[in-house]
Amino acid sequence: FPVENIRNFSIIAHVDHGKSTLADRLLELTGTIDKTKNNKQVLDKLQVERERGITVKAQTASLFYNCEGKQYLLNLIDTPGHVDFSYEVSRSLSACQGVLLVVDANEGIQAQTVANFFLAFEAQLSVIPVINKIDLKNADPERVVKQIEKVFDIPSDECIKISAKLGTNVESVLQAVIERIPPYAGQVGYLIAGMKDVTEAQIGDTLYLHKQPVEPLPGFKSAKPMVFAGMYPVDQSEYNNLKSAIDKLTLNDSSVTVHRDSSLALGAGWRLGFLGLLHMEVFNQRLEQEYNASVILTTPTVPYKAVLSSAKLIKEYREKEITIINPAQFPDKSKVTEYLEPVVLGTIITPVEFTGKIMMLCQARRAVQKNMVFIDQNRVMLKYLLPLNEIVVDFYDSLKSLSSGYASFDYEDAGYQTAELVKMDILLNGNIVEELVTIVHKDKAQTVGKAICERLKDSLPRQLFEIAIQAAIGSKIIARETVKAYRKNVLAKCYGGDITRKMKLLKRQAEGKKKLRKIGNIEVPKDAFIKVLKTQ
Ligand code: GTP
Repeated sequence: FPVENIRNFSIIAHVDHGKSTLADRLLELTGTIDKTKNNKQVLDKLQVERERGITVKAQTASLFYNCEGKQYLLNLIDTPGHVDFSYEVSRSLSACQGVLLVVDANEGIQAQTVANFFLAFEAQLSVIPVINKIDLKNADPERVVKQIEKVFDIPSDECIKISAKLGTNVESVLQAVIERIPPYAGQVGYLIAGMKDVTEAQIGDTLYLHKQPVEPLPGFKSAKPMVFAGMYPVDQSEYNNLKSAIDKLTLNDSSVTVHRDSSLALGAGWRLGFLGLLHMEVFNQRLEQEYNASVILTTPTVPYKAVLSSAKLIKEYREKEITIINPAQFPDKSKVTEYLEPVVLGTIITPVEFTGKIMMLCQARRAVQKNMVFIDQNRVMLKYLLPLNEIVVDFYDSLKSLSSGYASFDYEDAGYQTAELVKMDILLNGNIVEELVTIVHKDKAQTVGKAICERLKDSLPRQLFEIAIQAAIGSKIIARETVKAYRKNVLAKCYGGDITRKMKLLKRQAEGKKKLRKIGNIEVPKDAFIKVLKTQ
């Protein structure tokens, strides 16, 4: 194929703005797939993608298109819209010369529209703005054209208005791809190499013929996990099966990091690193659906750092700064000069009327405002520096609920900042529960401690004596709940009669106890840990 007839391009957009639907129409229009009513997100192949209606893995397709007597080869890469998968987007972009930036004609520019535009802009790609969903009753394409002009400095006459759903004006998208995106070399293909293990090949590697070495391409930075959580088989006898499922799935998704870990209550397991919370949920769902695994996932934490205070310690740890991905390994204050926490630069786009509430939410999450601009009369773009641990669990949900679903959020890594972190222990009648050790910011310790104590109180069964549940920092108690004593008499129902029935009940009680873990003299059922540690 002559190089001047090849176009390599990607579709980028905020979640749900219609990338995959546009891809379906482009596949149909070029005759790559037959036109039927069933073509819905053809490129989203994974079950998790179909159920959630989102793209998780980038997909490619080659299309042939005839235009003015010439045949063109269009290599299309469909990319995910969610922030957690933006590493897929940046990889896709490096294989392209141009992008279609799809924006919903009703919702307008959203947080991931901005993030994805800048990825393309930094990669010096041609950007073709496509305003989609013009068929919607509330569509206001003119307002979106103005937003695009203001935020991205793209002239209004470059915007193409379409309905991917109905197919309206989609042909002009193909024409723009040919006219506005430069040709330059490259084909999508595959090769079979004599490698024993897929992990030997990293995405971004340069391959060359043995006898003809070439200057390698710069490659990619490996994806950096932002969120860590413990993963354990629900039943320990499933350990090996789960291990092989995790091994297989990480081959398909190399951005997940895996370290072996174990917990007294939950047994042998792993500490996994994910790019974000959605990524964690998707990985979990894929394990369950594609590998039939059933797992316990613990509350996610972020990678904190500690700067060690003496040469002796640096020698011992073989590093000046240590990264803590497991709260149990948090070094004591006497060993460190400072603790650091990861921060992100967050972008929030919202209708003006929710700005006040959003600012209050951000303030409560220790965020620092960096910027605020009106992208049109009704919409504001806010930039905040936010500690990552303040957003991992429920920030997005809170933002959505206080803005009736209208605000959008995206973030990028912004390094580390000094933070007053403390290690919080949870005690049952004075004994530390190792799996519930948590790292928290000093100012948040009491709220977090109280919440854990309350959850534990609700899930601990009463025992023959009173149980004090306490949250403590060092020797200082910061929260407390009490579980009252209760005498459970399994024989009470027997009225002193039938001896075999009595024996049966006693046996059943003994079996039940096997699933318990003893902390001091308190029996804690595995269930209670799961309730406190589980994310949902
Ligand atoms: P992610 O893969 O999650 O990033 O989403 P996406 O951008 O690929 O969006 P997708 O194509 O899955 O479309 C999202 C929703 O918008 C679906 O319900 C589509 O049917 C709908 N949609 C897409 N294009 C149009 C359009 O032109 N008009 C209308 N009315 N709906 C559309």
